[in-house]
Amino acid sequence: MTSADDVRRAVAAVSDPELRRPIGDLDMVRGISVDGAAARVGIVLTIVGCPAADRIEADVRAAAASVPGIAEVTVDVGVMTPEERRALTEKLRDGRAPRQMPFGPDSLTRVVLVSSGKGGVGKSTVTANLAVALAERGLAVGLVDADVHGFSIPGLLGIPAGTQPTRIDDLMLPPVAYGVKTISIGMFLREGEGVVAWRGPMLHRTVSQFLTDVHFGDLDVLLIDMPPGTGDIAISIGQLLPHADVLVVTTPQVAASDVAIRSGLVARQTGQRVIGVVENMGPLTLPDGSMLELFGAGGGAAVADALTAEGSAVPLLASIPLSPALREGGDAGVPVVLQHPDDAAAVEIRELAAALSRRPESLAGRRLPFSPR
Ligand SMILES: Nc1ncnc2c1ncn2[C@@H]1O[C@H](COP(=O)(O)OP(=O)(O)O)[C@@H](O)[C@H]1O
Ligand SMILES: [Mg+2]
Repeated sequence: MTSADDVRRAVAAVSDPELRRPIGDLDMVRGISVDGAAARVGIVLTIVGCPAADRIEADVRAAAASVPGIAEVTVDVGVMTPEERRALTEKLRDGRAPRQMPFGPDSLTRVVLVSSGKGGVGKSTVTANLAVALAERGLAVGLVDADVHGFSIPGLLGIPAGTQPTRIDDLMLPPVAYGVKTISIGMFLREGEGVVAWRGPMLHRTVSQFLTDVHFGDLDVLLIDMPPGTGDIAISIGQLLPHADVLVVTTPQVAASDVAIRSGLVARQTGQRVIGVVENMGPLTLPDGSMLELFGAGGGAAVADALTAEGSAVPLLASIPLSPALREGGDAGVPVVLQHPDDAAAVEIRELAAALSRRPESLAGRRLPFSPR
């Protein structure tokens, strides 16, 4: 005889596609009864019109039907009461008070800011591909597009315009693209409101809201695509995340390295650690095999050397060549690291991801408890 408990066990294990936890843990399973080969299963969703509703219902039906002895399944779908929802958001916050930032110094999530001196060096393109490459390696990855004036991450990751985070009361669930939990100011603009013309305090509030109210869950890595330069946002994030690691992106053009060096020095002033330099838009290999150094050479090494001279050692972690496939992938919203993993730029970005996930401790330079001399 199949019991209601057998069905409950199977149903409880179904994962909520947005919260990425078993619905049993999320208290979403209600009454279950079994009458011969027929099971009746009650579940409750967080909100009316929950985008994942159809999928959860189908998964629940399949899970119940997979129990030996069950041939017929009825699923009753309801909605949580405000009290139940409050209990759920509390559980998701994991004991943290509302409005508390989960990425403080005690957090196990490695926060990596991707900065550059100036715009147009490929920072967002590199960040999006790096995030996808890290996710492909099995890490839980979040990505915050903090370039509120020039947000481009949703497009690079193929997130359709108009996509919004799902809200459960004041908690927001980030859309997931290629395994990366992604949030961007572009998701909060109303139609026709393409430009962000906010001033400092408003920007500070937006960025800190991204970090507090967006439910990323347990992440291994949180990448932050910074706006170019050293303005309000960089300072806000410096205050919010003084323990973060920083990657500085620059081009091979030595004449452009001053601004990149400055962005690294400003990050250091807030206590952040510059873990390396990424050179982008390096030599392009032409069809005849010759190399075109469109942006010159040596910029990445120059920035790494200058930052090393001013403090702790900063390696040149990657040199990404100019690549039509990288650019096309960005335009199409299909990251090159997935579409053409053998492209020279994709290989370099995947190696960067490998280096970041292989040696998190040494790269992050976390202090050892004690080192007697
Ligand atoms: N290695 C590369 N090869 C070819 N095009 C690139 C490369 N890196 C970036 N691009 C292109 O350069 C432009 C600027 O890149 P983007 O990532 O938006 O820069 P940033 O975020 O620094 O402003 C985009 O059109 C992008 O597709
Ligand atoms: Mg950008």
